[in-house]
Amino acid sequence: MEHGAAPGTETSARAGEQPPDRNLALELVRTTEYAALAAARWIGLGEKESADGAAVDAMRLLLHTVRMDGVVVIGEGEKDEAPMLYNGEHIGDGSPPHVDIAVDPLEGTTLTARGLPSALSVIALSERGTMFDPGPCVYMRKIAASNKFAHLLDIDRPLPETLRLIAREKGTDIRDVVVILLDRPRHEEAVREIRQAGARIRFITDGDVSAALHAVTPDSPVDLLWGIGGTPEGVIAAAAIKCIGGRILGRLHPRDEDERRAAVEAGYDLDEVLDQDRLVGGSDAFFAATGVTDGDVLQGVRYEGAEGATTESLVMRSRSGTVRRVHARHDRFKLREITGERVG
Ligand code: FBP
Repeated sequence: MEHGAAPGTETSARAGEQPPDRNLALELVRTTEYAALAAARWIGLGEKESADGAAVDAMRLLLHTVRMDGVVVIGEGEKDEAPMLYNGEHIGDGSPPHVDIAVDPLEGTTLTARGLPSALSVIALSERGTMFDPGPCVYMRKIAASNKFAHLLDIDRPLPETLRLIAREKGTDIRDVVVILLDRPRHEEAVREIRQAGARIRFITDGDVSAALHAVTPDSPVDLLWGIGGTPEGVIAAAAIKCIGGRILGRLHPRDEDERRAAVEAGYDLDEVLDQDRLVGGSDAFFAATGVTDGDVLQGVRYEGAEGATTESLVMRSRSGTVRRVHARHDRFKLREITGERVG
C-alpha cells in the first residue's frame, strides 16, 4: 500500500499481483444447494431417475442466473439422451469468463433412492479448454490421497507396496492404514491383496467423489482412495483436489475392446497417467458441492418443521486455495414461490 493511503482504499494491484476478482464458486453453490434440496425430496423412495431429474432441473434453473460463458464438458450425457445439461450445451449469458463446466447434479443416484450416505450435488468450473473430456471412456483407474501421502502415489506400483509405504510414513502398523473403495466384483483381486497386506477397507456402494474428498482431507480416517470408477467423477474430484490439496492419479480403463478402439481412434492415450492438473488444467478452478444424504464429508439436507431446511456445502477455488463450508437455512415456502414445486 502507498504510504498514507487508508486501509482498504488501494485499488490497483502491484506488478505480478492478481487483484481479487469474482469467486464464481460462491454463486455456484446456489446451484448445488437447489439441486440437493430438490433431490432430497426423493431420498429413500426407490426412484433414482426421478431424484436425478429433480436435481438436474433445479440446478439448471439456477445456472441461468450465473453470468458466464460456459460449455458443459461433463454433463448428463449426449444431447439425444439428455434434455438438459448435456455435453456441449452452452450455459450462461455468454459474457466472460469463458469456462468449461462439469456437473453432477446428483452424484449417487442409487444412494439417494435407497437413503444411503454420501450422495452429493456437485459442480466444477475451469478456464475454457482446460477440462479433460472423457469422450467414450466411462471408467478410469484412480488412486488419491492427502498431501501427506501424495509423494507415495504411483499408479503402476503394486498396491500392497504403496500401503506399506503409507504405513511407514504414518509411523504405524499397516493395520492402521485404511483404503476406501467401491464394492465391485472388478475389485476382488485388489481386496484380496489389501487384506493379505493387513490393511483395512472401507467399502462404499457408490459415490467415489465423496470418497476422494474424504481421502484427500488432512487427518482423515481414510488414507487412500483406490479403484476403478467413473471418469467424469475423476475429473470432478480432480477439480476439488486442485482447491483443497492432495493428489489424484488416474488412467483410462476401457470396459471392452470396442471401447478401447473407440478411445484410441478418438486420440486418447490409454497409457497416460492423468493427474489433477491434466484432468483440470489452468490455475483457476471453482468447485461447489452440497450434501444430499448425510455423509463423511458433508451433512445432508435436514428439514426443520414444515417450512425450514438446512444444507451444508463446500465452496472452493484453486487460485486462492480458499475452502469454505457454507451452512444455509432455506425457507421452503418462499423457495417454492420462486421455483414452483421444484425445490423444497
Ligand atoms: P450415479 O450415476 O448413480 O450417481 O453413480 C455414481 C457412481 O457410484 C460414481 O461415484 C462412481 O464413479 C461410479 O458410479 C461407478 O460406476 P459403476 O456403478 O458402474 O461401478
